[in-house]
Amino acid sequence: MEDRMRSSHSWLGLPLTTASVLLAIAATAQDDAGQLMFNNACRTCHVVKEGDNRLGPNLYRIIGRLAGSVGSYDYSSALDNADFVWDEETLDRFIADPDQVVPGNNMKPFAGISSKEERAKIIAFLRREAANRKAVGSTL
Ligand code: HEC
Repeated sequence: MEDRMRSSHSWLGLPLTTASVLLAIAATAQDDAGQLMFNNACRTCHVVKEGDNRLGPNLYRIIGRLAGSVGSYDYSSALDNADFVWDEETLDRFIADPDQVVPGNNMKPFAGISSKEERAKIIAFLRREAANRKAVGSTL
């Protein structure tokens, strides 16, 4: 019995470093989850690189950007005439149901993402991407 206690103790004592490694892995896994969800749900039509428009406009630093403001992209008049700045809340509502935020938009075919958790992860990915790209400069 005593032996077992001791060994379980040492097992518990050792992992401080193990725990932080696991935390780091968990954080990375979360990042990856957001990126993966972005790739699955958005990347067919959007990239986050400045100036790189695909079927949809680039989403470079989209949080804090004026809606419909990429000059090199040909928006629907609905988005062209939109007069608000994207924040996390409007983004969340937009990717849940685009027509609710910008009626008449042309983001199609896109069914909307019903999972709040999935939307939050995608938005966290966009926020992180923006921070990274700001840190290394806008030429990436
Ligand atoms: C099928 C292609 C497609 C998919 C998939 C798609 N989008 Fe879009 N998106 C578009 C198009 C096209 C527009 C421009 C719509 C317009 O002009 O009305 C747009 C516009 C936007 C805008 C407005 C940008 C601005 O400059 O105001 C945001 C934000 C956006 N999309 C985010 C997303 C996110 C996040 C996802 C993934 C969850 C996504 N989109 C998935 C095609 C798509």
